[in-house]
Amino acid sequence: MFNFDTHKIKIFTDGANLDSIIKLAKDDFIDGITTNPTLMRRSGVTNYMTFANSAVKASQGKSISLEVFSDNLDIMIDQARILSGLGKSVYVKIPITNSQGEPTSSVIKQLLNENIKVNITAVLSYSQIDECIRNLQGNSFAYISIFAGRIADTGLNPSLFIDYAINKLKDKHLNNVELIWASTREVYNIYEAAKVGCNIITAPPEIIKKIKLYNYDLNKLSLETVQMFKSDSDSAGYSIN
Ligand code: G3P
Repeated sequence: MFNFDTHKIKIFTDGANLDSIIKLAKDDFIDGITTNPTLMRRSGVTNYMTFANSAVKASQGKSISLEVFSDNLDIMIDQARILSGLGKSVYVKIPITNSQGEPTSSVIKQLLNENIKVNITAVLSYSQIDECIRNLQGNSFAYISIFAGRIADTGLNPSLFIDYAINKLKDKHLNNVELIWASTREVYNIYEAAKVGCNIITAPPEIIKKIKLYNYDLNKLSLETVQMFKSDSDSAGYSIN
């Protein structure tokens, strides 16, 4: 759990580069790992199960979320059972709908009945948050991944969505359900997520690296920025005549 003076939040790494997962999972300030098929493809993963097995091993027993992708709801359940069987710390990512827009409520309920931990993913709207809450019970171990960056892309403030979800979880006493600020775009989102009381933020490694700049001296940062300009203009041999 990371403590920014007054606000606490768990930091997960979001990606599919195995070396990075191995390195970050060893860090105390990383509490878990998330990935998705797009990140896996982008990282050059060709065999889903080989990657999934290696990622679970690399995760050091920390929470790891792996995603199903079938459009058939029964096959989605089968995929979830297989992924969940890879380790106790596996949360199975179930998209809020399949790619045809069919709700996955029945899948989520079935998996929770089997005590499979789920991470309901690609949640963007208030009605989808309501749907997640409806599908969860007091004893459900689950995450809800709200895609804050994609919400922000539409001109809306993602913190309002997280705040809405936090209140709904409290009202229904869903004490084992944690909210994830997902689709993180910049390091400032970590402070926004912590401030609104989100439990977890998942961020790509290049954003996590910038946490070291927290409370950094701005005059020093300005000087380093100007030194970067100077070094690059020197290296490029620029002249202004
Ligand atoms: O955490 C979810 C993330 O991997 C999706 O992010 O950038 O595709 O919106 P993005």
